[in-house]
Amino acid sequence: MNLSVQLAPNNEKGMLLANPVMNASGTFGYGTEDGAFFDVQRLGAVICKGTTLKPREGNPQPRLAETPAGVLNSVGLQNIGVEALIREKAPVWASWTVPVIVNIAGETVEEYAHLAARLDGVAGVSGLEVNISCPNVAAGGAEFGGKPGPAAEVTAAVRKATTLPVMVKLTPNTGDIVGVALAVATAGADCISLINTLKGMAIDVARRRPLLGNVFGGLSGPAIRPVALHMVYQVARAVSVPVIGCGGIMSASDALEFIMAGASAIQVGTASFTNPRAPLEVLEGLEEFMRAERIADIRELIGAGRG
Ligand SMILES: Cc1cc2nc3c(=O)[nH]c(=O)nc-3n(C[C@H](O)[C@H](O)[C@H](O)COP(=O)(O)O)c2cc1C
Repeated sequence: MNLSVQLAPNNEKGMLLANPVMNASGTFGYGTEDGAFFDVQRLGAVICKGTTLKPREGNPQPRLAETPAGVLNSVGLQNIGVEALIREKAPVWASWTVPVIVNIAGETVEEYAHLAARLDGVAGVSGLEVNISCPNVAAGGAEFGGKPGPAAEVTAAVRKATTLPVMVKLTPNTGDIVGVALAVATAGADCISLINTLKGMAIDVARRRPLLGNVFGGLSGPAIRPVALHMVYQVARAVSVPVIGCGGIMSASDALEFIMAGASAIQVGTASFTNPRAPLEVLEGLEEFMRAERIADIRELIGAGRG
């Protein structure tokens, strides 16, 4: 049974995963934390917490609020910064067989390019995931990922700065997900992951004020799955680079929906908060499905449910 997928077929280094299951950035730390609930090296790839040039403390508390079928978060990219990551985390990753992909975020195009250049050639770093859902401060507070032009600009700058495989992660907070996907693919993305969280908020009625310290947050979990699936379906049909599906995947059956919609691989995020073994259980469920259905190669399933 073959579960391996190549996510950067046009890149010299490639991004070959032993299986299509990854964690989603920000829900799994650096993969190096003590007390992991399973061997992280069973995953196809590990994606680390969003990383910025300088360490960030993140947004004021509270940062998490439960919703009927998911979570609102406003963590605000709390992270140790790229230098500490290179010093403390990369050496551990370099001893692993599983590829580690570093999720990067910047406030300007230059910051993204700087991060990409800094991580190029670092042992233990096998690829980049470019989070373009960050505020574009230079252009006045919009998200880079909201429009094709700025999304392409960030992608092209990162592409120029590194030889590493580049995965660009799209935000659902746009009216033109296909336009943004086509723009980043043209600008040099090796593959595209989607979706990040949907913008949301909650109000504390007793205290008559927003529940989250940062007022707004991002919604994740099962509530967003149909939205994510719809976007993955649309994007996978439109682009010729591999697509990685993410958003509310709780089980192998959910993962299969994304794969059958056209995703070559998937990421498990919020599910890990209620079940820390969720990514592994998704992988084992995929294997079980393939055995039961006598499917020799996972690639037979990619796009198989598009109708
Ligand atoms: C607490 C939390 C932190 C997150 N941090 C990041 C991050 O640093 N970078 C990023 O690209 N996405 C981040 N995300 C988004 C997830 O990677 C994922 O795209 C989103 O949650 C949807 O998937 P899910 O429903 O499986 O969680 C975060 C999500 C959560 C819930």
